[in-house]
Order: sequence, then C-alpha cells, then structure tokens
Amino acid sequence: MIFKKHFEKRRGIFVTKPSLPPAEEYMEYVRRIFDNGILTNMGPMHEEFREKLSDYLDADICIPTCNGHMALEMTIQAMGLKGEVITTPFTFASTTHAIVRNGCTPVFCDIREEDCTMDAEKIEELITDKTVAIVPVHVYGLPCNVDRIAEIAKKHNLKVIYDAAHAFGVKVGRKSISQFGDASMISFHATKAFQTIEGGCTVVHDKDLAMRIYHLINFGIMSEETVASVGANAKMNEFEAAMGICSLNHFEEYVASRKEIFETYRRELSEIPGIRLPQPYRQDVTMNYAYMPLFFDPKVLGKDRDKIYNYLALHKVYARKYFYPLTSSFECYRDKGFSGYVPVAEKASKEVLTLPIYSDLTVEEAAHICDLIRKCI
Ligand SMILES: Cc1ncc(COP(=O)(O)O)c(C=O)c1O
Repeated sequence: MIFKKHFEKRRGIFVTKPSLPPAEEYMEYVRRIFDNGILTNMGPMHEEFREKLSDYLDADICIPTCNGHMALEMTIQAMGLKGEVITTPFTFASTTHAIVRNGCTPVFCDIREEDCTMDAEKIEELITDKTVAIVPVHVYGLPCNVDRIAEIAKKHNLKVIYDAAHAFGVKVGRKSISQFGDASMISFHATKAFQTIEGGCTVVHDKDLAMRIYHLINFGIMSEETVASVGANAKMNEFEAAMGICSLNHFEEYVASRKEIFETYRRELSEIPGIRLPQPYRQDVTMNYAYMPLFFDPKVLGKDRDKIYNYLALHKVYARKYFYPLTSSFECYRDKGFSGYVPVAEKASKEVLTLPIYSDLTVEEAAHICDLIRKCI
C-alpha cells in the first residue's frame, strides 16, 4: 500500500474543492455515452464539447486534451521550437517542465510585484540569438501585459505561448484571454475554476499548427498507415467532455459564488497593513476568481507567512503556498545552469499564501478564516 497516503481523507477546509454539476445532469450525458458505446477518440461528446467550448472562449481553434500540461507540451512541440524560451519561475511545475521536456532551455524572467505576471519590461534584456519563444503565465487568472508582450515578440520574431491554466473565462477588455499570443493553454483540472475531471485545451489561430497538434495528441497518426510525428496520447475522453458540457452550463454561477468569497476576503483583510492583494494590470479585466492569493509582509506583521500557514493548519484550514518554491530552484533543475535573476519572484514566493476559495465555500467559512488570520497576526 505504498500510495495509501494519497487516499487518506483529512477533515477541514482545503484550498479548493471541485465545482460539480448536479449528478442527474451529468448522468444524462453518461447515459448517452453508454448508448453510443464510444468512450474516447474524439467521439460525439468530445465534438459537442469542443464546439461549445470554442463558442464560450470565443476561440478560433480549440483542441481539448487529457490535461493542461500535455496541451502545453504538445503545442511547443508542434511549433518545432528548439533553443531558449523566456518564462517565469513563479508558476506550477508544469510550465517549466513543458519547456524542458521539449529540449528547450528556460530563461527565467522576473515578475511584477503588483500581479505576479512576467515583467514585460525585463524580457528584452534576456533575448539572445538563441531565443525562440516567450511562455508567460496568467498567474491566478490575472492577465499578463499582453499588448507589450505582443510588441516585443513581433519586434524579435518570437512565438508567444501563454500558460493560461488559471484563466478560463478571463477577459481583457472585451477580448477573451484565449485570443492573445500564438497559442494559449488552459487547464480543466478538477481543482480549477472550470473542470472536466482531468482535462485542458490549447487554443490556436493557425490552421496548420492546429492540425499538427491534433495529430500529435493522437500519437502522430495521420492515417491508418501513416505516422508522421513522434506524438503522444493526449486525447480528452467522452466522460471528461460530458463533464465539460455540464460545467459550462454552470460556470457563470460558479464564478458568482467565488466572487462573493473573494469580496469577503478583500473586505476583511486587504486593508490590514502588511497584507497585500495582487491587482490586475488594467481596470477592464473580467476575473474568474480562481485563486485567493494574499501577500504577508513579515517586516510589517512581525510574523512570516509560514507562521500564518501553520496557524491556519492547526485550525484545520489548509491554505497553500502557491508558488513556493520557484520552479527555478526545483531540485531537478538545480544543476542545470538555467539562468535567471528573479528577486521579485523570490520575495513573492516567500510571502504568498493562497486561501481557500471554491464555489461551495460559504461566506461564514471565509469570515472564519479571516478571523483566524486576524488572531494570528
Ligand atoms: C500554471 C499552471 N500551468 C500548468 C498546469 C497544468 O495543468 P494540468 O494539471 O491540467 O495538467 C497547472 C495546473 O495544474 C498550472 O497551475
């Protein structure tokens, strides 16, 4: 029983919890899958989901996948990128792994303190004759400075692939987040604001690129007798697609509930000296309230983030240190010699705590968490 630890059920309030549609609604779709007898390989449920998803995201071309990570990895592979990729270390392991697993070298760019996204003003100094792409992250669903990044990419002829894992449903002005860059990957993992159990997608604007990704996610198979690229299996199955259709039906309700929780935390905590809430870089951003990050300044509070984290855990509230450690200091990358001077990211990763936020969390529970934090500090 080496994996027993993973299945132990702890009690308490966790950082997230899946937003589930009504069981009967999902079962209706499951019944259709049983009637069709098609479980995977771009079946009817997959196609229905793909169309609805493309509509919702206002996406040119949207390709569902088995998870967000494979969408990112396959998109980089489909672009045939080899060389240096400018990216952020203030992210989940997946972003950096997708670059490295493609044989590219990550070059770490620092972040902006205000919103923790890649500092666009620091990109150009990292560009060399080996640079092929920029992989920024809309971290916590807060958009990167997409216009400035587009300008730099155009000037230096670089591809831009957004890790939009957190940004389902986010808009910049009237534009869906998926419309920026050459491609965007979105995660539909069970813990995300929008979920398909496991799942994700890549959104692209170029038909040839889309076809290459479409083949790569199915082993590179072009036809019964032709395998043209070294692909993998990254297809979304019918049960995940069905969950996606149901989740889409309820997504706006989920966002509304999350917003209420977000506003509770903001009202109760953001005015306390030493506690800071990141802000989107422009006023006209439509947020999805996927995460509730707060930064705790130990100099002002006289207590560091870990003390607050431990105090909450003692009271069965399990916040998370997203993102600590930085991917640039992961054990697996320690001896690789990847470059990056990232003091702002280092400071942010030591001060951040993401608090529980999900559509089933009650305002009373959020207020209780605020009370605990006030008591602790
Ligand atoms: C920033 C970021 N990128 C990529 C991923 C990978 O997505 P997935 O878990 O769907 O593979 C995640 C999350 O899980 C993430 O948080």
